[in-house]
Amino acid sequence: MLNTIYERKSVRKYTDQKIDAETIEKILKAGMSGPTAVNARPWCFIVLNEQEMLEKSADANGRAAQCLKQAKLGILICGDLQRAFSRAPEYWVVDCAIAGQNMVLAAQSLGLGSVWLGTWPQMDKVERQRELFNLPETIVPHSLIAFGYPDDEVSANKEKNIWEEDRVHYNKW
Ligand SMILES: Cc1cc2nc3c(=O)[nH]c(=O)nc-3n(C[C@H](O)[C@H](O)[C@H](O)COP(=O)(O)O)c2cc1C
Repeated sequence: MLNTIYERKSVRKYTDQKIDAETIEKILKAGMSGPTAVNARPWCFIVLNEQEMLEKSADANGRAAQCLKQAKLGILICGDLQRAFSRAPEYWVVDCAIAGQNMVLAAQSLGLGSVWLGTWPQMDKVERQRELFNLPETIVPHSLIAFGYPDDEVSANKEKNIWEEDRVHYNKW
């Protein structure tokens, strides 16, 4: 588990290898396995595995999401406001982020690469995704994640510096 977490890095180039249905389901199940405030589970997932929709969704998210066009799978995580915790509905944002991170780590452990493509709170991106998928007002696009088998020399060789001691405070600021 720790290796999966430490070794994950964003992958933006993928091979042509398809991702089978069973693997997609494992990734989705990981997303659904995260903690959510009061167990509200206020998310839903739009799975993109058709080239046309990968391209349209990439364009809806803009320039920084163009790698999705080459990916074999995209998952658009959406918040479902009707399921959100009524006393603190904004927890939906946290819950969706946790689902996303679980999926990214599941992908890593299955030998897939992925990259998070931020959507919410950039409302131009949110609105373009909403329009593309004809979403009701209560369904809010949160994040798009691109997945594929890695073919990315740059990421593969990237050294990660994950330890930043000055970010840590013990018992006082
Ligand atoms: C909220 C969020 C939004 C991001 N949006 C993008 C994006 O639009 N395009 C992209 O290529 N990478 C995006 N990333 C990936 C980051 O650039 C990447 O995680 C960061 O540079 C650290 O690199 P690593 O993931 O390889 O550790 C995003 C990551 C997060 C968490």
